[in-house]
Amino acid sequence: MKAHELRNKYIEFFVSKDHTQISGASLIPENDPTVLFTTAGMHPLVPYILGQEHPSGNRLVDYQKCIRTGDIDAVGDPHHLTFFEMLGNWSLGDYFKEEAIRYSYEFLTKWLSVNPDKLSVTVFAGDDGVPRDDESAAVWRALGIPDERIYFLPREDNWWGPAGEAGPCGPDSEMFIDTGRDSCGPDCRPGCKCGKYFEIWNDVFMGYRKTLEGDYVPLARKCVDTGMGIERTIAVLQGKKSVYETEVFAPIIAGISKLSGVTYGEHEGQDVSVRIIADHVRTSVFILGDQRGVKPSNVGQGYILRRLIRRAVRHGRKLGIDGKFLSALATVVVDMYGDAYPELLDNRDFVLTELALEEEKFSTTLQKGEHEFEKMLPNLLKGNGRVINGRIAFKLYDTYGFPIELTEELAAEHGFTVDTEGFDAAFQKHQEVSRAGAEQQFKGGLADHSELTTALHTATHLLHQALRTVLGTHVGQKGSNITPERLRFDFTHEAPMTAEQVQQVEDIVNSVIARDLPVSFETMTIEEAKAQGAIAFFESKYGEQVKVYSVGDFSKEVCGGPHVTSTGAMGHFKIQKEQSSSAGVRRIKAVLEK
Ligand code: ALA
Repeated sequence: MKAHELRNKYIEFFVSKDHTQISGASLIPENDPTVLFTTAGMHPLVPYILGQEHPSGNRLVDYQKCIRTGDIDAVGDPHHLTFFEMLGNWSLGDYFKEEAIRYSYEFLTKWLSVNPDKLSVTVFAGDDGVPRDDESAAVWRALGIPDERIYFLPREDNWWGPAGEAGPCGPDSEMFIDTGRDSCGPDCRPGCKCGKYFEIWNDVFMGYRKTLEGDYVPLARKCVDTGMGIERTIAVLQGKKSVYETEVFAPIIAGISKLSGVTYGEHEGQDVSVRIIADHVRTSVFILGDQRGVKPSNVGQGYILRRLIRRAVRHGRKLGIDGKFLSALATVVVDMYGDAYPELLDNRDFVLTELALEEEKFSTTLQKGEHEFEKMLPNLLKGNGRVINGRIAFKLYDTYGFPIELTEELAAEHGFTVDTEGFDAAFQKHQEVSRAGAEQQFKGGLADHSELTTALHTATHLLHQALRTVLGTHVGQKGSNITPERLRFDFTHEAPMTAEQVQQVEDIVNSVIARDLPVSFETMTIEEAKAQGAIAFFESKYGEQVKVYSVGDFSKEVCGGPHVTSTGAMGHFKIQKEQSSSAGVRRIKAVLEK
Protein backbone atom coordinates (compact mmCIF):
# COMPACT_ATOMS: atom_id res chain seq x y z
CA MET A 1 0.00 0.00 0.00
CA LYS A 2 1.35 3.38 -1.06
CA ALA A 3 1.04 6.59 0.95
CA HIS A 4 -1.58 8.17 -1.30
CA GLU A 5 -3.69 4.99 -1.27
CA LEU A 6 -3.61 4.90 2.51
CA ARG A 7 -4.58 8.58 2.67
CA ASN A 8 -7.53 8.00 0.36
CA LYS A 9 -8.68 4.79 2.00
CA TYR A 10 -8.64 6.28 5.44
CA ILE A 11 -10.81 9.19 4.38
CA GLU A 12 -13.11 6.90 2.41
CA PHE A 13 -13.52 4.53 5.35
CA PHE A 14 -14.48 7.22 7.82
CA VAL A 15 -16.72 9.03 5.36
CA SER A 16 -18.53 5.69 4.98
CA LYS A 17 -18.97 5.82 8.77
CA ASP A 18 -20.71 9.21 8.58
CA HIS A 19 -17.65 11.37 9.19
CA THR A 20 -17.23 14.64 7.29
CA GLN A 21 -13.91 15.25 5.63
CA ILE A 22 -12.42 18.60 6.61
CA SER A 23 -9.32 20.37 5.30
CA GLY A 24 -6.11 19.97 7.20
CA ALA A 25 -4.78 23.24 8.59
CA SER A 26 -1.60 25.26 8.18
CA LEU A 27 1.62 24.00 9.75
CA ILE A 28 1.84 27.31 11.60
CA PRO A 29 -0.76 27.15 14.38
CA GLU A 30 -3.09 30.07 14.53
CA ASN A 31 -3.56 31.60 17.94
CA ASP A 32 -1.52 29.00 19.79
CA PRO A 33 1.76 30.59 20.69
CA THR A 34 2.78 27.71 22.95
CA VAL A 35 4.11 25.67 20.04
CA LEU A 36 5.91 26.57 16.83
CA PHE A 37 4.25 24.06 14.54
CA THR A 38 1.14 21.97 14.25
CA THR A 39 2.18 18.69 15.86
CA ALA A 40 -0.95 16.59 15.49
CA GLY A 41 -4.22 16.44 13.62
CA MET A 42 -6.11 17.47 16.74
CA HIS A 43 -4.18 20.68 17.16
CA PRO A 44 -6.36 22.85 14.91
CA LEU A 45 -9.40 21.21 16.50
CA VAL A 46 -8.62 22.14 20.10
CA PRO A 47 -11.43 24.71 20.46
CA TYR A 48 -13.95 22.11 19.27
CA ILE A 49 -12.66 19.38 21.54
CA LEU A 50 -13.05 21.90 24.35
CA GLY A 51 -16.71 22.35 23.57
CA GLN A 52 -17.34 24.67 20.63
CA GLU A 53 -19.61 23.48 17.83
CA HIS A 54 -17.70 22.48 14.71
CA PRO A 55 -19.37 23.74 11.53
CA SER A 56 -18.90 20.36 9.84
CA GLY A 57 -20.55 18.38 12.59
CA ASN A 58 -19.32 16.09 15.34
CA ARG A 59 -17.72 13.29 13.31
CA LEU A 60 -14.69 14.49 11.39
CA VAL A 61 -11.82 13.02 9.39
CA ASP A 62 -8.80 14.59 7.71
CA TYR A 63 -5.14 14.36 6.89
CA GLN A 64 -2.87 16.90 8.50
CA LYS A 65 0.71 17.95 7.87
CA CYS A 66 2.68 17.90 11.13
CA ILE A 67 6.14 18.88 12.32
CA ARG A 68 7.72 17.77 15.58
CA THR A 69 10.86 19.75 16.28
CA GLY A 70 11.84 17.76 19.33
CA ASP A 71 13.19 15.16 16.94
CA ILE A 72 15.45 17.30 14.77
CA ASP A 73 18.69 16.11 16.28
CA ALA A 74 17.61 12.49 16.13
CA VAL A 75 17.04 12.72 12.39
CA GLY A 76 19.71 10.75 10.60
CA ASP A 77 18.80 7.41 12.13
CA PRO A 78 16.48 5.20 10.07
CA HIS A 79 13.33 6.15 11.98
CA HIS A 80 13.07 9.79 12.88
CA LEU A 81 11.35 12.42 10.81
CA THR A 82 10.65 16.08 11.43
CA PHE A 83 7.73 16.28 9.02
CA PHE A 84 5.04 13.65 8.74
CA GLU A 85 1.44 13.32 7.70
CA MET A 86 -1.17 12.33 10.26
CA LEU A 87 -4.49 10.74 9.47
CA GLY A 88 -7.14 11.36 12.08
CA ASN A 89 -10.78 10.85 12.91
CA TRP A 90 -12.67 12.66 15.64
CA SER A 91 -15.78 12.33 17.65
CA LEU A 92 -16.79 15.62 19.23
CA GLY A 93 -19.08 14.39 21.97
CA ASP A 94 -20.50 11.71 19.66
CA TYR A 95 -19.10 8.16 19.91
CA PHE A 96 -16.56 7.17 22.53
CA LYS A 97 -14.31 4.21 23.31
CA GLU A 98 -16.31 1.31 21.94
CA GLU A 99 -17.01 2.70 18.47
CA ALA A 100 -13.60 4.29 18.15
CA ILE A 101 -11.85 1.00 18.82
CA ARG A 102 -14.22 -0.94 16.59
CA TYR A 103 -13.57 1.49 13.73
CA SER A 104 -9.83 1.17 14.23
CA TYR A 105 -10.01 -2.60 14.23
CA GLU A 106 -12.22 -2.76 11.15
CA PHE A 107 -10.04 -0.37 9.19
CA LEU A 108 -6.83 -2.18 10.12
CA THR A 109 -8.00 -5.71 9.55
CA LYS A 110 -10.55 -5.31 6.76
CA TRP A 111 -9.33 -2.30 4.79
CA LEU A 112 -5.58 -2.64 5.31
CA SER A 113 -5.62 -6.45 5.67
CA VAL A 114 -3.51 -6.40 8.79
CA ASN A 115 -3.37 -9.90 10.24
CA PRO A 116 -5.19 -9.68 13.63
CA ASP A 117 -2.67 -12.12 15.09
CA LYS A 118 0.06 -9.52 14.58
CA LEU A 119 -1.84 -6.84 16.45
CA SER A 120 -0.97 -5.83 20.01
CA VAL A 121 -2.67 -3.04 21.86
CA THR A 122 -2.05 -0.97 24.96
CA VAL A 123 -4.52 0.62 27.32
CA PHE A 124 -4.18 2.93 30.30
CA ALA A 125 -3.26 1.14 33.53
CA GLY A 126 -4.84 3.79 35.74
CA ASP A 127 -3.36 5.89 38.52
CA ASP A 128 -4.47 8.22 41.32
CA GLY A 129 -6.53 10.53 39.20
CA VAL A 130 -7.91 8.33 36.45
CA PRO A 131 -9.13 4.73 36.68
CA ARG A 132 -7.74 1.78 34.76
CA ASP A 133 -9.26 1.57 31.30
CA ASP A 134 -11.03 -1.80 31.57
CA GLU A 135 -13.66 -0.59 29.15
CA SER A 136 -11.21 -0.31 26.22
CA ALA A 137 -9.59 -3.60 27.15
CA ALA A 138 -13.00 -5.30 27.10
CA VAL A 139 -13.70 -3.97 23.60
CA TRP A 140 -10.36 -5.27 22.32
CA ARG A 141 -11.05 -8.62 23.95
CA ALA A 142 -14.50 -8.80 22.37
CA LEU A 143 -12.86 -8.16 19.00
CA GLY A 144 -10.64 -11.17 19.54
CA ILE A 145 -7.38 -9.73 20.83
CA PRO A 146 -6.25 -12.15 23.55
CA ASP A 147 -5.26 -10.89 26.99
CA GLU A 148 -1.56 -11.56 26.41
CA ARG A 149 -1.59 -8.97 23.64
CA ILE A 150 -3.47 -6.33 25.64
CA TYR A 151 -0.96 -4.38 27.74
CA PHE A 152 -1.96 -2.11 30.60
CA LEU A 153 0.64 0.66 30.73
CA PRO A 154 1.15 3.72 32.92
CA ARG A 155 0.69 7.39 32.17
CA GLU A 156 4.08 7.82 30.54
CA ASP A 157 3.02 5.38 27.81
CA ASN A 158 -0.73 5.66 27.60
CA TRP A 159 -1.67 9.24 28.14
CA TRP A 160 -1.73 11.74 25.31
CA GLY A 161 -1.67 15.51 25.28
CA PRO A 162 -2.02 18.33 25.61
CA ALA A 163 -0.46 19.39 22.30
CA GLY A 164 0.84 22.68 23.67
CA GLU A 165 1.20 23.61 27.31
CA ALA A 166 -2.47 23.39 28.10
CA GLY A 167 -5.53 21.87 26.51
CA PRO A 168 -7.40 18.62 26.01
CA CYS A 169 -5.79 15.30 26.87
CA GLY A 170 -6.66 11.87 28.11
CA PRO A 171 -5.83 8.18 28.33
CA ASP A 172 -5.24 6.44 25.04
CA SER A 173 -5.18 3.04 23.45
CA GLU A 174 -2.35 2.42 21.01
CA MET A 175 -2.08 -0.18 18.27
CA PHE A 176 1.13 -1.95 17.37
CA ILE A 177 2.11 -4.37 14.66
CA ASP A 178 4.53 -7.12 15.54
CA THR A 179 7.18 -7.04 12.80
CA GLY A 180 8.17 -10.62 13.54
CA ARG A 181 11.69 -9.56 14.50
CA ASP A 182 13.27 -11.12 17.57
CA SER A 183 12.43 -9.40 20.79
CA CYS A 184 15.22 -7.73 22.71
CA GLY A 185 14.48 -9.63 25.93
CA PRO A 186 11.78 -10.70 28.36
CA ASP A 187 10.77 -7.07 29.04
CA CYS A 188 10.19 -6.30 25.39
CA ARG A 189 6.66 -5.02 24.84
CA PRO A 190 4.78 -2.53 22.65
CA GLY A 191 6.46 0.80 23.09
CA CYS A 192 9.91 -0.79 23.37
CA LYS A 193 12.45 0.95 21.16
CA CYS A 194 14.08 -2.23 19.82
CA GLY A 195 11.89 -2.23 16.75
CA LYS A 196 9.93 -5.44 17.23
CA TYR A 197 6.67 -3.54 17.75
CA PHE A 198 5.77 -0.76 15.39
CA GLU A 199 3.19 1.73 16.59
CA ILE A 200 0.72 2.66 13.89
CA TRP A 201 -2.33 4.23 15.49
CA ASN A 202 -3.40 5.98 18.61
CA ASP A 203 -6.96 6.39 19.86
CA VAL A 204 -7.08 9.11 22.49
CA PHE A 205 -10.07 9.38 24.77
CA MET A 206 -10.13 13.08 25.46
CA GLY A 207 -11.70 13.41 28.85
CA TYR A 208 -9.66 16.18 30.48
CA ARG A 209 -8.35 19.66 29.99
CA LYS A 210 -4.95 20.40 31.46
CA THR A 211 -4.72 23.98 32.68
CA LEU A 212 -1.63 26.19 32.58
CA GLU A 213 -1.40 25.63 36.34
CA GLY A 214 -1.12 21.89 35.75
CA ASP A 215 -4.58 20.83 36.91
CA TYR A 216 -6.67 18.25 35.08
CA VAL A 217 -10.28 19.38 34.71
CA PRO A 218 -12.81 16.84 33.37
CA LEU A 219 -14.34 17.84 30.04
CA ALA A 220 -18.11 18.26 29.99
CA ARG A 221 -18.25 16.50 26.63
CA LYS A 222 -15.97 13.52 26.00
CA CYS A 223 -14.24 13.37 22.63
CA VAL A 224 -12.18 10.92 20.61
CA ASP A 225 -9.01 12.02 18.84
CA THR A 226 -7.04 9.54 16.78
CA GLY A 227 -3.80 9.72 14.88
CA MET A 228 -2.13 7.42 12.36
CA GLY A 229 1.22 8.42 10.90
CA ILE A 230 1.22 7.78 7.16
CA GLU A 231 4.96 7.23 6.72
CA ARG A 232 5.28 4.73 9.57
CA THR A 233 2.18 2.85 8.63
CA ILE A 234 3.10 2.31 5.00
CA ALA A 235 6.61 1.29 6.05
CA VAL A 236 5.25 -1.51 8.21
CA LEU A 237 2.57 -2.50 5.69
CA GLN A 238 5.25 -2.73 3.02
CA GLY A 239 7.45 -4.80 5.29
CA LYS A 240 10.16 -2.13 5.27
CA LYS A 241 12.46 -1.60 8.21
CA SER A 242 12.53 2.13 7.77
CA VAL A 243 10.35 4.95 6.50
CA TYR A 244 13.31 5.96 4.33
CA GLU A 245 12.93 2.76 2.34
CA THR A 246 9.40 3.63 1.18
CA GLU A 247 8.29 5.39 -1.99
CA VAL A 248 7.83 8.57 0.03
CA PHE A 249 11.59 9.00 0.20
CA ALA A 250 12.76 6.98 -2.79
CA PRO A 251 12.59 9.82 -5.35
CA ILE A 252 14.31 12.29 -3.00
CA ILE A 253 17.03 9.79 -2.17
CA ALA A 254 17.42 9.00 -5.87
CA GLY A 255 17.93 12.72 -6.44
CA ILE A 256 20.60 12.85 -3.74
CA SER A 257 22.34 9.81 -5.23
CA LYS A 258 22.37 11.39 -8.65
CA LEU A 259 23.85 14.62 -7.32
CA SER A 260 26.43 12.99 -5.07
CA GLY A 261 27.20 9.66 -6.70
CA VAL A 262 26.53 8.02 -3.33
CA THR A 263 24.45 4.84 -3.31
CA TYR A 264 22.07 4.66 -0.38
CA GLY A 265 22.50 1.57 1.77
CA GLU A 266 26.19 1.01 1.19
CA HIS A 267 27.82 3.02 3.90
CA GLU A 268 26.11 3.87 7.17
CA GLY A 269 27.96 7.17 7.65
CA GLN A 270 26.84 8.40 4.27
CA ASP A 271 23.33 7.05 4.79
CA VAL A 272 22.99 9.30 7.82
CA SER A 273 23.73 12.32 5.65
CA VAL A 274 21.36 11.12 2.94
CA ARG A 275 18.53 10.76 5.46
CA ILE A 276 19.22 14.14 7.01
CA ILE A 277 19.11 15.84 3.63
CA ALA A 278 15.99 13.95 2.53
CA ASP A 279 14.08 14.71 5.72
CA HIS A 280 15.20 18.31 6.04
CA VAL A 281 14.49 19.22 2.42
CA ARG A 282 11.02 17.71 2.65
CA THR A 283 10.25 19.60 5.85
CA SER A 284 11.69 22.86 4.52
CA VAL A 285 9.50 22.63 1.42
CA PHE A 286 6.42 22.22 3.59
CA ILE A 287 7.34 25.15 5.85
CA LEU A 288 8.12 27.50 2.97
CA GLY A 289 5.21 26.26 0.88
CA ASP A 290 2.65 26.48 3.67
CA GLN A 291 -0.40 28.69 3.30
CA ARG A 292 1.23 30.77 6.02
CA GLY A 293 4.75 30.03 4.87
CA VAL A 294 7.69 31.67 6.62
CA LYS A 295 11.20 32.50 5.45
CA PRO A 296 14.44 31.50 7.15
CA SER A 297 15.24 33.86 10.03
CA ASN A 298 16.74 33.88 13.49
CA VAL A 299 13.51 33.50 15.42
CA GLY A 300 10.65 31.07 15.86
CA GLN A 301 9.64 28.95 12.90
CA GLY A 302 12.10 30.80 10.69
CA TYR A 303 14.96 29.69 12.89
CA ILE A 304 13.93 26.05 12.70
CA LEU A 305 13.74 26.41 8.94
CA ARG A 306 17.18 27.97 8.84
CA ARG A 307 18.60 25.13 10.93
CA LEU A 308 17.05 22.53 8.64
CA ILE A 309 18.35 24.16 5.48
CA ARG A 310 21.85 24.80 6.81
CA ARG A 311 22.19 21.31 8.20
CA ALA A 312 21.06 19.88 4.87
CA VAL A 313 23.62 22.02 3.05
CA ARG A 314 26.41 20.85 5.32
CA HIS A 315 25.51 17.21 4.84
CA GLY A 316 25.34 17.81 1.09
CA ARG A 317 28.94 19.00 1.21
CA LYS A 318 29.86 15.98 3.30
CA LEU A 319 28.55 13.77 0.52
CA GLY A 320 30.65 15.70 -1.95
CA ILE A 321 27.86 17.57 -3.69
CA ASP A 322 29.27 20.71 -5.28
CA GLY A 323 27.13 23.69 -5.99
CA LYS A 324 23.54 24.33 -5.18
CA PHE A 325 21.33 21.29 -4.87
CA LEU A 326 18.36 22.05 -2.63
CA SER A 327 16.07 23.43 -5.32
CA ALA A 328 16.47 20.33 -7.46
CA LEU A 329 15.40 18.14 -4.54
CA ALA A 330 12.64 20.53 -3.54
CA THR A 331 11.14 20.22 -7.00
CA VAL A 332 10.84 16.49 -6.45
CA VAL A 333 8.98 17.10 -3.18
CA VAL A 334 6.61 19.68 -4.68
CA ASP A 335 5.76 17.36 -7.56
CA MET A 336 5.20 14.46 -5.23
CA TYR A 337 2.86 16.28 -2.83
CA GLY A 338 1.21 18.89 -5.07
CA ASP A 339 -2.01 16.89 -5.39
CA ALA A 340 -2.59 16.40 -1.69
CA TYR A 341 -1.25 19.84 -0.73
CA PRO A 342 -2.05 22.28 -3.56
CA GLU A 343 -0.52 25.15 -1.58
CA LEU A 344 2.88 23.71 -2.55
CA LEU A 345 2.06 24.28 -6.21
CA ASP A 346 0.77 27.80 -5.52
CA ASN A 347 3.94 28.65 -3.63
CA ARG A 348 6.39 26.72 -5.77
CA ASP A 349 8.39 29.74 -6.96
CA PHE A 350 8.62 31.13 -3.44
CA VAL A 351 9.84 27.78 -2.11
CA LEU A 352 12.53 27.38 -4.75
CA THR A 353 13.70 31.00 -4.58
CA GLU A 354 13.94 31.11 -0.81
CA LEU A 355 15.74 27.78 -0.62
CA ALA A 356 18.27 28.91 -3.20
CA LEU A 357 18.80 32.21 -1.39
CA GLU A 358 19.39 30.62 1.98
CA GLU A 359 21.62 27.97 0.46
CA GLU A 360 23.69 30.60 -1.25
CA LYS A 361 23.96 32.71 1.90
CA PHE A 362 25.25 29.78 3.87
CA SER A 363 27.38 28.02 1.27
CA THR A 364 29.80 30.90 1.03
CA THR A 365 30.55 30.84 4.74
CA LEU A 366 30.15 27.15 5.46
CA GLN A 367 33.55 26.21 4.13
CA LYS A 368 35.28 29.07 5.90
CA GLY A 369 33.52 28.21 9.14
CA GLU A 370 34.46 24.56 8.95
CA HIS A 371 38.00 25.55 8.09
CA GLU A 372 38.10 27.91 11.07
CA PHE A 373 36.81 25.10 13.28
CA GLU A 374 39.44 22.68 12.03
CA LYS A 375 42.18 25.26 12.58
CA MET A 376 41.15 25.45 16.20
CA LEU A 377 41.10 21.71 16.72
CA PRO A 378 44.81 21.11 17.51
CA ASN A 379 44.65 23.73 20.22
CA LEU A 380 41.41 22.41 21.56
CA LEU A 381 42.82 18.91 21.65
CA LYS A 382 45.66 20.13 23.85
CA GLY A 383 43.19 21.29 26.48
CA ASN A 384 41.84 18.99 29.13
CA GLY A 385 38.12 19.18 28.68
CA ARG A 386 36.62 18.28 25.38
CA VAL A 387 34.40 21.33 25.38
CA ILE A 388 34.16 24.09 22.80
CA ASN A 389 33.70 27.31 24.66
CA GLY A 390 30.74 29.59 24.11
CA ARG A 391 32.74 32.41 22.55
CA ILE A 392 33.96 30.17 19.76
CA ALA A 393 30.50 28.80 19.18
CA PHE A 394 29.20 32.35 19.07
CA LYS A 395 31.86 33.36 16.56
CA LEU A 396 30.84 30.49 14.30
CA TYR A 397 27.27 31.67 14.62
CA ASP A 398 27.91 35.35 14.18
CA THR A 399 30.57 35.27 11.49
CA TYR A 400 29.77 32.12 9.58
CA GLY A 401 26.08 31.65 10.23
CA PHE A 402 26.40 28.31 12.03
CA PRO A 403 23.27 27.70 14.09
CA ILE A 404 24.48 26.55 17.51
CA GLU A 405 22.99 23.11 16.90
CA LEU A 406 25.16 22.75 13.83
CA THR A 407 28.25 23.62 15.82
CA GLU A 408 27.20 21.03 18.38
CA GLU A 409 26.90 18.45 15.63
CA LEU A 410 30.25 19.38 14.14
CA ALA A 411 31.80 19.28 17.58
CA ALA A 412 30.31 15.87 18.32
CA GLU A 413 31.83 14.50 15.13
CA HIS A 414 35.22 15.35 16.65
CA GLY A 415 34.35 14.10 20.12
CA PHE A 416 33.58 17.50 21.63
CA THR A 417 30.63 19.09 23.33
CA VAL A 418 29.75 22.77 23.26
CA ASP A 419 29.30 25.09 26.19
CA THR A 420 25.81 26.20 25.17
CA GLU A 421 25.36 28.31 28.29
CA GLY A 422 28.48 30.22 27.37
CA PHE A 423 27.07 30.57 23.88
CA ASP A 424 23.79 31.93 25.20
CA ALA A 425 25.65 34.40 27.37
CA ALA A 426 27.71 35.62 24.43
CA PHE A 427 24.59 35.71 22.32
CA GLN A 428 22.65 37.71 24.84
CA LYS A 429 25.37 40.29 24.99
CA HIS A 430 25.03 40.85 21.29
CA GLN A 431 21.35 40.59 20.83
CA GLU A 432 18.23 41.41 22.68
CA VAL A 433 16.56 38.16 21.91
CA SER A 434 18.37 35.06 23.04
CA ARG A 435 18.03 31.74 21.31
CA ALA A 436 16.13 30.55 24.32
CA GLY A 437 13.92 33.57 23.91
CA ALA A 438 13.25 32.67 20.32
CA GLU A 439 12.13 29.21 21.19
CA GLN A 440 10.47 30.00 24.42
CA GLN A 441 6.94 30.62 23.40
CA PHE A 442 4.41 32.61 25.30
CA LYS A 443 1.93 30.92 27.50
CA GLY A 444 -1.71 30.99 26.53
CA GLY A 445 -3.01 30.44 23.06
CA LEU A 446 -5.83 28.39 21.70
CA ALA A 447 -6.29 26.34 24.78
CA ASP A 448 -6.50 29.47 26.86
CA HIS A 449 -10.03 30.70 26.58
CA SER A 450 -9.67 33.36 29.19
CA GLU A 451 -11.65 36.56 28.76
CA LEU A 452 -8.46 38.36 27.87
CA THR A 453 -7.48 36.18 24.94
CA THR A 454 -11.07 35.98 23.73
CA ALA A 455 -11.38 39.77 23.72
CA LEU A 456 -8.04 40.09 21.93
CA HIS A 457 -9.24 37.63 19.34
CA THR A 458 -12.31 39.75 18.68
CA ALA A 459 -10.07 42.81 18.59
CA THR A 460 -8.07 41.09 15.85
CA HIS A 461 -11.19 40.96 13.68
CA LEU A 462 -11.91 44.61 14.32
CA LEU A 463 -8.31 45.50 13.50
CA HIS A 464 -8.40 43.47 10.30
CA GLN A 465 -11.51 45.26 9.06
CA ALA A 466 -10.26 48.67 10.18
CA LEU A 467 -6.99 48.13 8.29
CA ARG A 468 -8.94 47.24 5.17
CA THR A 469 -11.04 50.36 5.57
CA VAL A 470 -8.06 52.66 6.07
CA LEU A 471 -5.40 51.06 3.84
CA GLY A 472 -7.46 49.18 1.26
CA THR A 473 -8.79 45.71 0.59
CA HIS A 474 -5.37 44.39 -0.44
CA VAL A 475 -4.82 44.00 3.30
CA GLY A 476 -5.06 40.35 4.24
CA GLN A 477 -4.13 38.44 7.34
CA LYS A 478 -0.77 36.69 7.14
CA GLY A 479 -0.54 35.56 10.71
CA SER A 480 -2.00 36.07 14.13
CA ASN A 481 -0.64 35.34 17.55
CA ILE A 482 -2.39 36.09 20.81
CA THR A 483 -1.17 35.96 24.37
CA PRO A 484 -3.14 37.13 27.41
CA GLU A 485 -1.12 40.36 27.21
CA ARG A 486 -1.38 41.42 23.59
CA LEU A 487 -2.31 40.57 20.05
CA ARG A 488 0.07 40.40 17.16
CA PHE A 489 -1.23 40.64 13.63
CA ASP A 490 0.70 40.28 10.37
CA PHE A 491 -0.87 41.55 7.18
CA THR A 492 -0.05 42.25 3.57
CA HIS A 493 0.82 45.89 2.95
CA GLU A 494 3.90 47.35 1.31
CA ALA A 495 4.69 50.61 3.11
CA PRO A 496 5.02 51.51 6.77
CA MET A 497 1.80 53.00 8.10
CA THR A 498 1.80 56.71 8.81
CA ALA A 499 1.01 58.01 12.28
CA GLU A 500 -2.32 59.26 10.95
CA GLN A 501 -3.22 55.87 9.57
CA VAL A 502 -2.37 54.20 12.87
CA GLN A 503 -4.54 56.75 14.66
CA GLN A 504 -7.42 56.24 12.23
CA VAL A 505 -7.31 52.49 12.69
CA GLU A 506 -7.29 52.84 16.47
CA ASP A 507 -10.19 55.28 16.34
CA ILE A 508 -12.27 52.98 14.17
CA VAL A 509 -11.69 50.00 16.44
CA ASN A 510 -12.49 52.03 19.55
CA SER A 511 -15.66 53.42 18.02
CA VAL A 512 -16.85 49.88 17.26
CA ILE A 513 -16.10 48.92 20.85
CA ALA A 514 -18.04 51.97 22.06
CA ARG A 515 -21.04 51.01 19.90
CA ASP A 516 -21.26 47.73 21.85
CA LEU A 517 -22.05 45.72 18.73
CA PRO A 518 -23.27 42.14 19.10
CA VAL A 519 -20.93 39.35 17.96
CA SER A 520 -22.61 36.32 16.44
CA PHE A 521 -21.90 33.53 14.03
CA GLU A 522 -23.62 31.55 11.32
CA THR A 523 -22.58 28.31 9.68
CA MET A 524 -22.46 28.14 5.89
CA THR A 525 -20.31 26.89 3.03
CA ILE A 526 -17.13 28.73 2.22
CA GLU A 527 -18.63 29.78 -1.12
CA GLU A 528 -21.68 31.29 0.58
CA ALA A 529 -19.42 33.07 3.05
CA LYS A 530 -17.39 34.62 0.24
CA ALA A 531 -20.56 35.55 -1.65
CA GLN A 532 -21.72 37.43 1.44
CA GLY A 533 -18.47 39.37 1.43
CA ALA A 534 -16.97 37.64 4.45
CA ILE A 535 -13.20 37.92 4.76
CA ALA A 536 -11.91 34.41 4.12
CA PHE A 537 -8.19 33.96 3.92
CA PHE A 538 -7.73 30.28 4.11
CA GLU A 539 -7.82 27.17 2.02
CA SER A 540 -10.90 25.11 2.29
CA LYS A 541 -12.53 22.36 0.36
CA TYR A 542 -15.33 23.20 -2.02
CA GLY A 543 -18.60 23.07 -0.14
CA GLU A 544 -16.96 22.79 3.26
CA GLN A 545 -18.99 24.20 6.14
CA VAL A 546 -17.39 27.11 7.97
CA LYS A 547 -18.33 29.48 10.74
CA VAL A 548 -18.73 33.14 9.83
CA TYR A 549 -18.46 35.62 12.69
CA SER A 550 -20.12 38.99 12.37
CA VAL A 551 -19.48 41.98 14.56
CA GLY A 552 -22.70 43.95 14.07
CA ASP A 553 -22.61 45.45 10.59
CA PHE A 554 -18.89 46.20 10.88
CA SER A 555 -17.03 42.99 10.15
CA LYS A 556 -17.73 39.55 8.78
CA GLU A 557 -14.99 36.97 8.78
CA VAL A 558 -14.58 33.23 8.48
CA CYS A 559 -13.14 32.00 11.75
CA GLY A 560 -13.42 29.25 14.33
CA GLY A 561 -13.88 31.54 17.31
CA PRO A 562 -14.16 31.99 20.23
CA HIS A 563 -15.25 35.62 20.55
CA VAL A 564 -16.85 37.94 23.06
CA THR A 565 -20.63 38.15 22.74
CA SER A 566 -20.62 41.92 22.31
CA THR A 567 -17.88 44.49 21.92
CA GLY A 568 -18.84 46.80 24.78
CA ALA A 569 -16.62 45.59 27.58
CA MET A 570 -13.44 44.96 25.61
CA GLY A 571 -11.52 47.96 26.89
CA HIS A 572 -9.51 50.57 25.01
CA PHE A 573 -7.68 49.40 21.90
CA LYS A 574 -4.13 50.68 21.55
CA ILE A 575 -1.56 49.93 18.83
CA GLN A 576 1.84 49.71 20.46
CA LYS A 577 3.97 48.96 17.44
CA GLU A 578 3.72 48.94 13.67
CA GLN A 579 6.75 47.47 12.01
CA SER A 580 7.97 45.39 9.10
CA SER A 581 7.59 41.64 9.42
CA SER A 582 9.03 40.59 6.05
CA ALA A 583 8.92 41.88 2.49
CA GLY A 584 5.41 43.15 1.80
CA VAL A 585 4.17 42.16 5.24
CA ARG A 586 3.64 44.53 8.18
CA ARG A 587 3.20 43.59 11.81
CA ILE A 588 1.08 45.25 14.47
CA LYS A 589 1.25 44.65 18.17
CA ALA A 590 -1.71 45.96 20.10
CA VAL A 591 -3.30 45.75 23.52
CA LEU A 592 -6.66 46.26 25.15
CA GLU A 593 -6.28 48.65 28.05
CA LYS A 594 -8.78 48.45 30.85
N1 ALA B 1 -3.22 13.27 18.95
C1 ALA B 1 -2.83 11.91 19.05
C2 ALA B 1 -1.41 11.68 18.62
O1 ALA B 1 -0.79 12.57 18.12
C3 ALA B 1 -3.76 11.05 18.29
O2 ALA B 1 -0.91 10.59 18.77
